[in-house]
Amino acid sequence: MVQHWWQEIVVYQIYPRSFNDSNGDGIGDLQGIIEKLDYLKELGIGAIWLSPVYQSPNDDNGYDISNYEAIMDEFGSMDDMEELLAQANQRGIKIIMDLVVNHTSDEHAWFIEARKDKNSPYRDYYIWANPAADGTTPNDLTSFFSGSAWKFDEETGQYYLHFFSKKQPDLNWENEKVREEVYHMMNFWIDKGIGGFRMDVIDLIGKVPQEKISTNGPKLHDYLQEMNQKTFGKYDLLTVGETMAATPENAKLYSKPERKELSMVFQFQHMNLDIQANGEKWDLAPLDVAKLKEVLAKWQKELGDEGWNSLYWNNHDQPRIVSRWGDDDKYRVQSAKMLAILLHMMKGTPYIYQGEEIGMTNTPISDISEAADIESINMYHERLAKGYDKKDILASINAKGRDNARRPMAWDSSTNAGFTSGKPWLALNDNYKDINVELALKGPNSIFYTYQKLIQLRKENPIMIWGSFQLVDTVDEVFSYYRKYKGQRWLVVTNFSSEVQPFSSEDEMKKVIIQNTVDEFTTLENINLQPWQAFVVEVE
Ligand code: NOJ
Repeated sequence: MVQHWWQEIVVYQIYPRSFNDSNGDGIGDLQGIIEKLDYLKELGIGAIWLSPVYQSPNDDNGYDISNYEAIMDEFGSMDDMEELLAQANQRGIKIIMDLVVNHTSDEHAWFIEARKDKNSPYRDYYIWANPAADGTTPNDLTSFFSGSAWKFDEETGQYYLHFFSKKQPDLNWENEKVREEVYHMMNFWIDKGIGGFRMDVIDLIGKVPQEKISTNGPKLHDYLQEMNQKTFGKYDLLTVGETMAATPENAKLYSKPERKELSMVFQFQHMNLDIQANGEKWDLAPLDVAKLKEVLAKWQKELGDEGWNSLYWNNHDQPRIVSRWGDDDKYRVQSAKMLAILLHMMKGTPYIYQGEEIGMTNTPISDISEAADIESINMYHERLAKGYDKKDILASINAKGRDNARRPMAWDSSTNAGFTSGKPWLALNDNYKDINVELALKGPNSIFYTYQKLIQLRKENPIMIWGSFQLVDTVDEVFSYYRKYKGQRWLVVTNFSSEVQPFSSEDEMKKVIIQNTVDEFTTLENINLQPWQAFVVEVE
């Protein structure tokens, strides 16, 4: 099997709006990222996935693009972007651009033209349908941001499809011209020297709305193969598809090398485990660790030799993992380190979301006026109208809302955590005086250094990248597995709970590779794992 650079590195995701503001307007920007490249180099990452920086009216914080070949004013200019690419490349860091091509903004020139008149050459760039016989929406497809996925357009008397906000009309991938435009734009970015693409909701592009097919449409993989051929296929780039409906079985279609589609996908099965059966993301259920093991082990096994996994706990759409499945109070440091060790020791490319490396936590709100995210705000009003209790809605937002991940990055203990000298676009988490980068770098036992060590270990130990995975049978709350490579064996043991848990193995220890306690131990037999304890040992 050919080996690729993107299997060997760790990727760091930046949500530019919330990362670092260089000009005091309260919004993070490209120069702000450049200022922090040395910090990222110290962490050891090999690539940055940059959430969208393109021109956008910001209905969905940049995921609504009005010009794919221009930079958002608040973030800087194309010169800044080129400087970022050059400065990152100098430090051995590649830039992965976010590719949002399931939809554009309604302020994109294509849509402005398309909505003017039914005969516009751009009309067919989008998806239009007549009202149903009773005058209502063409069908009952719903938007991921609440309500119908169809919006009536007065001008021409038809509805257009929008799986996200009304200002994010869906592109019509059936139209060859749309596909050509997208490939052209991708090549524009490839020519600038980027390291690859993260592809937003890419499993929606094969949609057949008339038949109410959204994800996994019949032509999805044809389109991806065509895209590969016409753009990145000639180079060794990292391509990761965001695929909400991926299963271990169909994920091979994307990442099996001979199919020539993508490097890997972001799957959601592990992220969906704290949702009630048949519920929406807001319908909370406690995490069942046994299920988490089952799901992750299945992905490890299925994509073992026939594809490649991405490994992540966080992104700009998910709540902070230490608040979600760790313990962000008494065991914050311990549990954040455990989650890091557990994830980075699995087979695949790990992703770190800004702030994860210092254990940043969720930020609860007590009133909807404190929310900025369109998804949470729409859901709040929809559920209120349906008669839900305000307290319950806010509890869901506090547990799952996207603002949790989008609070500005905490750099130090000064005003606004050094994120901005102005007024931050979104308030910071109050705990920034205790949880910030400056403190993390000063504390030898901080979460930061666990991440740094994991990244360093990956550079030195091929077993971490290529070793096979085998789950170990344990009590539910203990998550343990082996990695095996060329006669070498590593045993990973983690306690996924705030209670002491039993663990025992007859393996003979050779040496400790990494751990999150200072315990000295020489045997693996009959151990009492401390709350959130994690260690990796090389065994005979
Ligand atoms: C997935 C992105 O990660 C999310 O932030 C965005 O709102 C939707 N796709 C729509 O682009």
